[in-house]
This record gives sequence, structure tokens and C-alpha cells, in this order.
Amino acid sequence: MMRTATCGDLSSKNVDKEVTLAGWVDTRRDHGNLIFIDLRDRWGITQVVFNPEKNADLHRLAETVRSEFVLQVKGRVSNRPQGTVNKKIPTGEVEVLADSLVILNASPTPPFEIGEMNVGEDIRLKYRYLDLRRRVMLENLSFRYRVSKIARDYLDKQAFIEIETPYLTRSTPEGARDYLVPSRVHTGSFYALPQSPQLFKQLLMVGGYDRYFQLARCFRDEDLRSDRQPEHTQIDIEMSFVEEEDVMNLVEGMVADCVEKAKGLKFARPFKHLSYEEALSRFGSDKPDLRFDMELVDLTEIFAESGFKVFDSVIKSGGKVRGICLRPPQGVEYSRKDFDDLTAWIQDYGAKGLAWFKVKGPDSVESPIQKFFVPDRMAKVIGSLQAQAGDILFMVASTPQISAVALGALRVKLAHRHGLMDLDRFEVLWITDFPLFEWDEDGGRYHALHHPFTSPMEKDIPLLEKDPAAVRARAYDLVLNGVEIGGGSIRIHRRDVQDKVFRALGIGADEARDKFGFLLDALSYGAPPHGGLAMGLDRFVALLLGLDSIREVIAFPKTQKGTCLMTEAPSEVHPDQLKELGLHVKSLDRV
Ligand code: AMO
Ligand code: AMP
Repeated sequence: MMRTATCGDLSSKNVDKEVTLAGWVDTRRDHGNLIFIDLRDRWGITQVVFNPEKNADLHRLAETVRSEFVLQVKGRVSNRPQGTVNKKIPTGEVEVLADSLVILNASPTPPFEIGEMNVGEDIRLKYRYLDLRRRVMLENLSFRYRVSKIARDYLDKQAFIEIETPYLTRSTPEGARDYLVPSRVHTGSFYALPQSPQLFKQLLMVGGYDRYFQLARCFRDEDLRSDRQPEHTQIDIEMSFVEEEDVMNLVEGMVADCVEKAKGLKFARPFKHLSYEEALSRFGSDKPDLRFDMELVDLTEIFAESGFKVFDSVIKSGGKVRGICLRPPQGVEYSRKDFDDLTAWIQDYGAKGLAWFKVKGPDSVESPIQKFFVPDRMAKVIGSLQAQAGDILFMVASTPQISAVALGALRVKLAHRHGLMDLDRFEVLWITDFPLFEWDEDGGRYHALHHPFTSPMEKDIPLLEKDPAAVRARAYDLVLNGVEIGGGSIRIHRRDVQDKVFRALGIGADEARDKFGFLLDALSYGAPPHGGLAMGLDRFVALLLGLDSIREVIAFPKTQKGTCLMTEAPSEVHPDQLKELGLHVKSLDRV
């Protein structure tokens, strides 16, 4: 046996026991005569003492030991001398008096100290195996495991079975680009890595496997952000003979179980519901953060025919003027430059401008555009936004969509800037009644807001041809603290409806046959009504841990540029490999 105890086991109960420990050198401290080594393993840290008076050779060997060496130490457990007990660690009452030492492995000086908190992310990712030795990473990954285990157990109890679906498959449209894998045997043909198991789980329902789940990896080539990785993990669920409430109930139970058992939190059930429209008009987002107020207010009527050209023309063309009210913390002053910066920033959301007013009294404001508005009108604005002196009002006039989304983004930005959300609070809710399609200006056609297999509401089916924009989906998203952590829907189970939806999306019969022929066939062979949802495990876990980036809960994540700094993937491949695959990379010709 290489060890008889772990570095987290020992306490004063074990005093005088002979033990063998193995682990890494966390720190080595030379105190004149005595050498103290903090030995670390997954379970904890134990102090080991080398005394030259007891064993001079051993002490000399201990002197050669450096950080991150791997040691095997034998010794006797002893109470630490009075006044040297470390209450911060569970083993802090004791130490091991060494009487043998084997250096199992050496290490060069690591590029960063394992205990150091302020290490750049690039260096952490390049030496991820060292970064993973940090206690916080171990805690994050252990917590992630807890959550997935609780979810698995929960689903198991509810009679779900886990079934694996292929990674080498055909494109599954979830709105991103595919990662393609060239086939050697079928030169010129490609597999696509699944963006989700969506089609397979539906086919499992056709196959009769009511109540499927899978902790599935999904691959999406899209612009990466702190909460988006090229591969992420979903708790993927599908059920047969269900309606929205059935799926939502099941998922609520699972989420509540996870947060209670892993985090000791109780989420009140049933979760709140907001319709897509209400979420957009009140919070300017389909994933509203309910940890703070600052709701959007529609000021269109108050500003009607105000004489201010910008607002008048927007309102005349069917747009809206919406506003929010910021109550800045004591002592915070907004300068002209602050407003200019926000005005420039908000253009990314399609807003052409940002109007702002500092509130001075019940009907008086300070703003470059105050002269356009009589006090009476301003009094109504101030009243609608429930503002008081010292508050700042922001307004965007634009299309109904842009005025909401731009202000919604500003609402979140300001809340972060001024710490308006209670970081210990968790606000979970469902968003329902999504439109089935969204209009894509650039492509000049409709896109599925979720995916093209989402069922329209029964009563809206006749609108599929007449007025696609008005069709609502039987879809639901789960939102936690302003982040979409899950999405799902009742699916189309009738071939004729699926055909109609493809048509509305501009997918012709030939294209549908070519891409999804197997699904259309399957639907025609007695597909049951079915529906499901997928939870983003990485996001869920990161949020519960209060972390900004999902990279902190993934053992080997990619950078924002989709690279792995450790393995240096993606990488060029040997020309022979390309030849075998029948591929020719133009940029390599220079080499
Ligand atoms: P959707 O595309 O909404 O639905 O994905 C489900 C959940 O997965 C998470 N997620 C991501 N997490 C990290 N990085 C990404 N790139 C990423 N993309 C998505 C989100 C999201 O809510 N097949 C459907 C589910 C269904 O209809 O049952 C699907 O994949 O938390
Ligand atoms: P302009 O007439 O474009 O110089 O704008 C005058 C003021 O109105 C400035 O404070 C702008 O930021 C504001 N403004 C312009 N366009 C909008 C808009 N679409 N929504 C809100 N405020 C706007």
C-alpha cells in the first residue's frame, strides 16, 4: 500500500499512530532546525515535520524537496505544540513526525503557485493540470459532479432511462454552425457533431422509449462568450404523452432537488411564469434577471406629439418610447462623458440614441433635451417611472423590439455597475408563449426561435401560412438570475404539421427530404405526442457557485477563441492524413 491515510484524514484521535501519507508538496518551510512540509492530496493538507536531531539524513533529504514534488512520508502522528494549532484546516491539530521519506517524483518550479489566486487565465489554461490542483477547482468540479449525480438519481427515480445517442451524425439545427468530421471511407462526405441530441431523442419517443434522458455533450460552432463553449453538456430530457405542464413539473422537481441537496437552497414551487411578451415589455429580455427591479415603462402615450422630432417620428412609424429609472447609489454622479459612453455602447443593440434626464423635482429635470418637454409632461414621465429627485431616467425611442431589448441590456449593465442585485439571491422563472418564428432581416426569411421541431400552439396552426409571425410556440425556457439555463418544447408529432412548419421556414420539400427525411418518415409511423427540455449543466452549476464563467466548472475548457491552450487544439494535421481524407487545404499550400 502506498499510503495508510490521506492528507485529510488525521486528527488528534490518531495521535501516536504510525501512518504513511502520499501527496504533493504544497509548501516547504525551513524554520532553522525544523523543516515543515505541507503535504497535499485531494482530501486535504497535513503538516509533516523533519527534525535533524532525530534523523539528520532524512532532514538533508527533506531540504532538497521543492514545491509540487510528489512524496511518500512515513511517520508518527503527534499533537502540534500549544499555540501552533491551525484552526483553519481539519488536520490543523496534528502533524506527522517523519521517519522516512521517498521522493516519488520531482517537479520544476511551477509557472504559478498553486495557492496563488491572481493568475492569468491563459497561463491557468496552458497548465490546466496544475490549475486543477487548486482547491477551488476541485470544489467546483466536485460540486458539478454532485449536481449531475442528483439530477441522474432524480430522473432514475422518475423511471427515466439514460440512452446514449451518436456523436458522429448529421447536422441538427439548433441555430449554430456545425463542427464537421470528414469521412475517410466516404471521401468527400462529412459527419456533423450534434448541436444537441434533439432528433435522436424524438426518434427514441417514436421507438417507444418514453422518459429518456442523457447527460449529453453538444457541439456548436458559434461566437463564444463567458457562458458559451464550443462543447457544452446538457441534461437532455424527453417524454411521451405529455403536455407543457408535465415537462415543466418534472424539470422543476429536478432543479429544486439539485439546489436543495447540493446547495441547501429551497426554490419555491411552482416557479414563476412570464410570457415572452411580458418579459420583453417589462424587462427588455427573454431571460430577465428578477433579482432587481428597474422595470421598463412604456412612455409612448405620454410622449405622443411632444414636438420632439426624434420621438415623434418613431411613434408615428409604430415605434415606442420606453424608459427606465436608475437610482444611483449615494455619491454616484453621472458626467456628460458617462452618458456619451452609454449612448455609444447602446448602439450595439440597435438604438440610434439614448435620452437621459437627471430628476431634480416632481416635474423638473436636467437634460440636453429638456426644453422640448413641458413640465406637465415631465411630471407624468417622472410619475410613471416612480422617480424621485436624484434619479436618472434613460429612454430609447425605436421599434418596439429594439426599444425594449436595448433598455433591457442597459438595465442589466447598470445593475452590475452599481451592484443593484443581491448576489446571494436566486431568481428562477419560466418564459412561455414564445413566437414560433423570428424574422431574420439579413436572410429575408423566418427562423425557428427554438428549433424547427417545436410544435405551434394548436389554435395557431391555421396561421402558419397566413401570418407566421403571429404563431406562438409550445416552448418554454428556464431562466436563472438572467441566464437561460434550459429550453424545451412540445414537439411536432404530425407529419403534416412538420411539413407546414418547414414550408413557413422556407425549407422546400426536397431540402426537407434530403436533411430530415428520416424524421419525416418516423413521424409518419405513429409518432406519439412528446416533448422535453435540455438544461445547460455548465451554466446551471456556474450560477449556483456564483461564477461568471462556465470555464470555471469545466475541467478542460476552450478559450473564447475556441482553442485549447494546453493541447494546442485545433492544430494542423499531417498532409498524409489530409490526403487519406481527400482533403486539400489551400492555406497549407504555402508550407
Ligand atoms: P437549447 O439550444 O436551448 O436547446 O440548449 C439548451 C441549454 O443548453 C445551454 N447551452 C449552452 N451552454 C453552454 N455553451 C453553449 N454554447 C450552449 N448552448 C446552449 C443553455 C440552453 O438553455 N434540443 C434543445 C432542447 C430541447 O428542445 O429539448 C436545445 O438544445 O443553458
Ligand atoms: P439628436 O437630435 O440625434 O442630436 O438627439 C438629441 C438627443 O436625443 C440626444 O440626447 C440623443 O441621445 C437623444 N436621442 C436621439 N435618438 C434617440 C432615440 N432613438 N431614443 C432616445 N433618445 C434619442
